[in-house]
Amino acid sequence: MTRRRGGKRPIRSNGENGRYAHITGWGAEVPERVLTNHDIEKMVDTSDEWIRERTGISERRIADDRDTTVTLGIRAARKALKRANILPDDLDLIIVATGSSEHLFPSTACLIQDQLGATRAGAFDLLAACSGFIYALGMAAGQIKSGQAQTVLIVGTEIFSRITDWNDRGTCILFADGAGAFVLQVSDTPGGVREVVLHSDGSGGDLLSVPSGVRATWNGSEPPPKSVIYMNGRDVFRFAARVMTSAIEEVIRNTGLMLSDIDVIIPHQANLRIIDASMRSLKFPSERVIINVERYGNTSAASIPIALVEAVEQGRIKANDRLVVVGFGGGLTWGAALLEWDVIPTTASYGRDVLREGLYILARVRSLLNRMMRFLESVFVRGPSKSHWRLLKRSENSPPHSEPKK
Ligand code: ACO
Repeated sequence: MTRRRGGKRPIRSNGENGRYAHITGWGAEVPERVLTNHDIEKMVDTSDEWIRERTGISERRIADDRDTTVTLGIRAARKALKRANILPDDLDLIIVATGSSEHLFPSTACLIQDQLGATRAGAFDLLAACSGFIYALGMAAGQIKSGQAQTVLIVGTEIFSRITDWNDRGTCILFADGAGAFVLQVSDTPGGVREVVLHSDGSGGDLLSVPSGVRATWNGSEPPPKSVIYMNGRDVFRFAARVMTSAIEEVIRNTGLMLSDIDVIIPHQANLRIIDASMRSLKFPSERVIINVERYGNTSAASIPIALVEAVEQGRIKANDRLVVVGFGGGLTWGAALLEWDVIPTTASYGRDVLREGLYILARVRSLLNRMMRFLESVFVRGPSKSHWRLLKRSENSPPHSEPKK
């Protein structure tokens, strides 16, 4: 088989037509507050030893009351925009993967769009639980390769601590909070996100679920189910170990590569035993697998971006490395993506950094003015009503619009 310069086997191009989706910016954000296994020992009947043995988790980060999926997502996104050296107006599309958004609508993506001042961008949330980041990567790359977009921001952001039942020892030991963001940009240089495979099986939806307030299965005689995570851990474990392996093999096969061509695998950080089992069955060297579940727990759609950003910042991922990111989660959903980490160099500029910070301030002012203008417009057209005052007051106080912490 022919090998390209540097001894690497060429990647089979699948419908890229000269437009490639490169990652040019990245950033992650985790809350400061650390919750250790010993802290959880005081909440439910469990032990540090049990949690470490069965999951590999030692501690996780938990958001304080001021943070939301929006504020964590904004902070990660700002880092990604800075790294890519682009302005908010350069974004054509914002895709947010989250399973813990504060509202069914407005989407977390729209609230992030507003606070970034990405006035040209479309924005939507995508719900694929812990596979959300892989799905977002697939949607973003597809938009770029098809010519619909030049520059896309994807964000995985979660506050799972607020949908965790802290009395359920089977789930509360696992989940945590955090966010990660990536900027993808078009280029005619082959590289970037080369292949994405996505799968689902709704017949397993009951294995992992969070009922929403809209659920209509109770008749008033029993209380509605709480909006917390319900999980059949053993079945999810078996499903996860199986699909992680099959998704990795499929994405590699689709590009005409072999496992030996892959430099690094970044799996969803759910449980160390799931990761170990699938890597053992693939016979992939453990030193080339990125794992940080011991420090952050399972941050769902944010887990792969946080692990990838950390690996890049620690120098564990180098130019021209071939990476596979792989995830699974509620739905059931699963998928994998194959990336070439040949990041297009950007020249950082102090002037642009200052301009970007100025634009963030302007975005907040614009957002406030827009809301005031909407209020005044409706007052002058139809006269004031109680609901106008209520809405204006609510939007001023609502947490999604609060200034993200630095
Ligand atoms: N501490 C002590 N004992 C516990 C705990 C705990 N925290 N949790 C469960 N146990 C007990 C159980 O009650 C059970 O006791 P029993 O035998 O007397 O009934 C025993 O430990 C074994 O329980 P299992 O559920 O079989 O334990 P298992 O080894 O499977 O570990 C775990 C449980 C960690 C939840 C594991 O099944 C798992 O990680 N599953 C995958 C979960 C996952 O990855 N979910 C995220 C998916 S991604 C997304 O979309 C959100």
